[in-house]
Amino acid sequence: MLQGKHILLIIGGGIAAFKSLDLIRRLRERGATVTPVLTRAGEQFVTPLSVSALAGRKLYRDLFDLGDEAEMGHIQLSRVADLVVVAPATADLMAKMANGHADDLASTLLMATDTPVLIAPAMNVRMWDHAATQRNLVTLKGDGIAVVGPNDGDMACGEFGPGRMSEPMEIVAAIEARLTDGPLSGKRILVTSGPTHEPIDPVRYIANRSSGAQGAAIGRALAALGAEVIFVSGPADAAAPDGVEVIRVETAQQMLEAVEAALPVDAAIFAAAVADWRVASASDRKLKKSKDGLPMLEFAENPDILRMVSQMKHGRPGLIVGFAAETDDVIDNATAKRLRKGCDWIVANDVSPATGIMGGPENAVILITDDGADVWPRMTKDAVARRLAQRIADAL
Ligand code: C5P
Repeated sequence: MLQGKHILLIIGGGIAAFKSLDLIRRLRERGATVTPVLTRAGEQFVTPLSVSALAGRKLYRDLFDLGDEAEMGHIQLSRVADLVVVAPATADLMAKMANGHADDLASTLLMATDTPVLIAPAMNVRMWDHAATQRNLVTLKGDGIAVVGPNDGDMACGEFGPGRMSEPMEIVAAIEARLTDGPLSGKRILVTSGPTHEPIDPVRYIANRSSGAQGAAIGRALAALGAEVIFVSGPADAAAPDGVEVIRVETAQQMLEAVEAALPVDAAIFAAAVADWRVASASDRKLKKSKDGLPMLEFAENPDILRMVSQMKHGRPGLIVGFAAETDDVIDNATAKRLRKGCDWIVANDVSPATGIMGGPENAVILITDDGADVWPRMTKDAVARRLAQRIADAL
C-alpha cells in the first residue's frame, strides 16, 4: 500500500506516456497522492487535461509560470514528494539527467530534488542500445537513481527488443519497494564486491576469478530491506544492484580510497576478492619480449582494507563482515581470520574448484561470529544474501 505517500510523476515525451495515465490510477487506488509534471514533448502523446483529471491535482508544465511560482516554486515542488518517478524516461531526459541539464521544468526539478528518483526508460531499441544511452544509464545508476525496465518486446515503431516501458503494475511494484519501510531503513551500509585488477603494464594485469555475484546479491538484499547501500565494486562480471550508489574502482588502492571516502557507515560488508599483492612498480609502457630473458616482476603487499577498517580507533562501523574464501580447513582458517583481521563476522566458504562456487550461482557458507560457526545449507547466492541481510538487520 502507498497510503499517505506522495509521488511527483514526470511524464516524458514517448508513446509509452499513455501507460502513465494508467500508472496514475493504480497509484491513487493504493492511496498515493500523485503530482503530475508533463514535458512539452509529453503533451504530444497525452493531453494535459487527462493527466490532471486522473491525478485529481494541478498539473505542472512550465518552468517560468508566474502563477505556479507564486503558489509553489519549482524548488519546493521538487521536494514535496517521497519519490520522484520519471515515466516514460526518454533517451533525451536520461541524457539531461546524466549531464546535469536544467533547461525546462522536468530537468530542473530533477536537478533540484533531494528525494530518491526512480526512472522507467522507454525508447526505440536502437536508441536504448546506443552507446550514449548506455553510458548515461551507468552514470545515473552510479548517482543512485533507481531504474525499472525497460522490457523486451514489440515496439510501437515496429521493431523488437529492449526499450518498452515497464507495465504500470511493474512500476507500482518498484515504487512500493522503494517506499515501504524496511528493518534497515535509515541505515547506511557499505559493500565491497568483485575482484581487483592490479596492473603489470598498460595492457596486462593480475586478477582473480571473482564474478562479484555474491557481493551484488548482498547489495540488492540490503537495499530491499531499506538500507542506503554504497556499493564499491572492482571490475566484476555481475551487474551492480539497481538503485544504490555504485563506485567503480580497479585496484586495491583505489578500493581503499573509495571505502575511506564512504565512511562513516553503520555496517560494512567486505565481499570483494581483493588482490593481496600488486606489481611493485607497474610499467607505464607495454613490456616487450626480449632476447635478455623473461621479465621479472617484483610484488608489493596491498593494503588489507578489511583489517584497516576493523582496527580503526575512531569511526569504526558498528558491524563489520569479512569473507574468507578457503580451499581447506574452512572453519579453522576462517575462525583464525576473524581474530586476525578484527572484524565481527566472517562469511566463510569453500572455493575448491570441485564445489563450483567461484563464478557459479550457488554458495555454501559458514557464518563465524562470537558465538561460533553456523553452517548454512547450500543455496543460491541470492538466498545467502537475503539470509545475511536479515541477520544484519537483527544485529543493527
Ligand atoms: O586475507 P584474505 O584475503 O583471505 O581475507 C578476505 C577478506 O578480507 C575479505 O572480506 C576481503 O574483502 C578482505 N580483504 C580486504 N583487503 C585485502 C585483502 C582482503 O579487504 N587486501
